[in-house]
Amino acid sequence: MHYPWWYVPFLTAPMLIALVSVFHVYVSMYAVGGGLFLALETQFAYRRGNRRYLGYLKDHAWFFILVTIVYGAITGVGIWWTIGLASPLATEMLIHIFVFGWAMEYVFFVLEIASAFIFYYYWGRLEPKTHQIIGWIYAFSAWMSLVLITGITAFMLNPGAWPQQRDFWVGFFNPQFWPQTLARTGGSLLLATLYVYLHAAFREKDAELRALIGTRSARPGLLGALLVTVSGVWWYLALPASAQAALAAASALNILMLLIFAVTVIVFVMLYLGPYRHPGWVTPGFALLLFSFGLAAVGSGEFIREAVRKPFIVYDVVLSNQILAEEVAALRQTGYLEGGVWTRAYVARHYPQAMNEQGQIDEVALLALPEAERLKVGEVLFQYHCNDCHATAEGYSAVGQLMRGWTPELIRLVAQHPEKAHFFMPPFAGRPEEAELLSQYLASIAKPFPPGLATGGE
Ligand code: HEC
Repeated sequence: MHYPWWYVPFLTAPMLIALVSVFHVYVSMYAVGGGLFLALETQFAYRRGNRRYLGYLKDHAWFFILVTIVYGAITGVGIWWTIGLASPLATEMLIHIFVFGWAMEYVFFVLEIASAFIFYYYWGRLEPKTHQIIGWIYAFSAWMSLVLITGITAFMLNPGAWPQQRDFWVGFFNPQFWPQTLARTGGSLLLATLYVYLHAAFREKDAELRALIGTRSARPGLLGALLVTVSGVWWYLALPASAQAALAAASALNILMLLIFAVTVIVFVMLYLGPYRHPGWVTPGFALLLFSFGLAAVGSGEFIREAVRKPFIVYDVVLSNQILAEEVAALRQTGYLEGGVWTRAYVARHYPQAMNEQGQIDEVALLALPEAERLKVGEVLFQYHCNDCHATAEGYSAVGQLMRGWTPELIRLVAQHPEKAHFFMPPFAGRPEEAELLSQYLASIAKPFPPGLATGGE
């Protein structure tokens, strides 16, 4: 609330975060699993003296660097940019709490990039032993990046004892740390196998070598699918009660859960019957199909992980609408607009007649403004309070659509107590006059009752 709001029309800002991060995760998981693949397989190829396989691996390493470093780094920066705009308070908290974690992450990231470039550009110019060591340095630092980022992001879903103890390691090794680290490690193994098949199916013409690639990568893929399933259950058990309830309450999430489970089983069976038993199956069509299943499972998993974080963005600490949970009671007294730096400046500048002698906002005077102005203030309240989950009249979970045909009384009740309508909405953090301004704005964008339907005797 101490930052300006940001509204992404139609989509809403959090959905933009979801989009950018899903596209980032598709590649960052490959950056981890693919690193392990390259390290393991170059070691294997050197040991066997398999020149042809080494040739393929070099070709793969080029593709790998292009995808993970170029695309991965751009989308990674994209995430920072979007979360900074959409969730400034939560981002600020994560930076402050985990300064040391980000510093470690930075070190591993630099190591990752440097070793990836050395691994590829010095191919054939290094002793095999040194080359393999560089490969393992890459694999280890990429996995450490995964571990560090997972600790910090898992903290948001369930910070465990951190709110009482305020200790870095307590926050880092939160109840969600192990299940999410295992799930992402499994996802990385699985996704890397699917990338390898896709690349090999299109790039490697030699059927014998393709079959070798098929067999070699089947086991990590199968292991990955198993890890994802087991740690998925663990993840669910380690959720706070509100997140479990949010998962149970949303039909879209129920469907996605089922989809992940079904797709993971399908991928497991396809990997087993395909490359594991019949290595010749690594054809472009098969690889593409498998790859799209993998993306569907990983995408749904990430979406669910984000979607259950309600009504908190950092559980028990920051509400989804950028208000500290501990501030709500005070804001209900002093007023929301009065409590925020930007909102107070906005009212003082546009409606000086609504400021009292002490320079504070007089909410009753706001209610006396002409209707058009009241709606503008109501919209400001909506943008600060609700836009983290709802579009306005049209778009993602648009309130205009959700309140179609609602009576003014019904709208007023929900504006005053959103948390009573649905436990996963944050409570209204303002004075009753402000709830009234908000409900007038909501009534102005609510769609009419669809024509031709009976309204129950009215
Ligand atoms: C943490 C996210 C979040 C915030 C913040 C939030 N809501 Fe909601 N709200 C939801 C979700 C999720 C639903 C269920 C949507 C659905 O069924 O499609 C919902 C449903 C609603 C509904 C429909 C209720 C029903 O039972 O049909 C209304 C009206 C609504 N919200 C208004 C608001 C208003 C007004 C605000 C701001 C004061 C707000 N919401 C803030 C998440 C949120």
